[in-house]
Amino acid sequence: MRTPVIAGNWKMNKGPAEAAELINELKPLVKEAKATVVVCVPAIDIPAAKKALKGSKIKLGAQNVHFKESGAFTGELSASMLKEAGVEYVIIGHSERRQYFAETDETVNLRVKAAVAGGLIPIICVGEKKEQREAGYTDALVAYQTLIALTGLTEDEIKKVIIAYEPVWAIGTGLTATDEQANETIGVIREAIRAKYGKRVSDRVRIQYGGSMNPKNVKGLMAQPQIDGGLIGGASLKAEDFAKVVHFE
Ligand code: PGA
Repeated sequence: MRTPVIAGNWKMNKGPAEAAELINELKPLVKEAKATVVVCVPAIDIPAAKKALKGSKIKLGAQNVHFKESGAFTGELSASMLKEAGVEYVIIGHSERRQYFAETDETVNLRVKAAVAGGLIPIICVGEKKEQREAGYTDALVAYQTLIALTGLTEDEIKKVIIAYEPVWAIGTGLTATDEQANETIGVIREAIRAKYGKRVSDRVRIQYGGSMNPKNVKGLMAQPQIDGGLIGGASLKAEDFAKVVHFE
């Protein structure tokens, strides 16, 4: 059985003081959570978040990682820097990074490899745009994005990664994939992993849904057999809402 993982993606919201405040509100609300709970905070908030998370089971995540260990890469952070600061998870290849910062499937793969080598658990985002779904390319696209992202990892490493299926048209729009759409496409991703790496690997990989997941729709989505959790943007910025998503039953 796969333990569900609910991760908040705060994106570019909240400074260090507000981050500590939100975490302190959240801690008592998710104390009994059965799911793994992660908060992916802005890089500047990492030390404050780490301090606020003390004594809680909530895990700390970042929103990006560079693929080199050090060097002339202005504005970037390496896996070892994140690790030293207490980060355990890192979002890689979010559609906003792909869209606004020109990330490609290849750079996503480099970042995934660097994260895993540095002892971080990557949350790898894949997903189609509206026009790609309408043209019937969703399945081929998400399978391709997933397999490229995983290239070069060992089977044991792949078992530990998290994939987030995030249809781009559902992110921040209030539009959610239906329970069935999300389940079906996540099934396609799992099948692509099975075809290449075998069932023992594909049965272990946790695949989240992301895109306007909230307290109202979480129950239906989480009842689907393929869906192992969520990557939550907007609804992760309020402790009460995020806690409701965490306790999805
Ligand atoms: P949303 O964002 O929940 O605000 O749609 C999800 C995400 O981008 O990870």
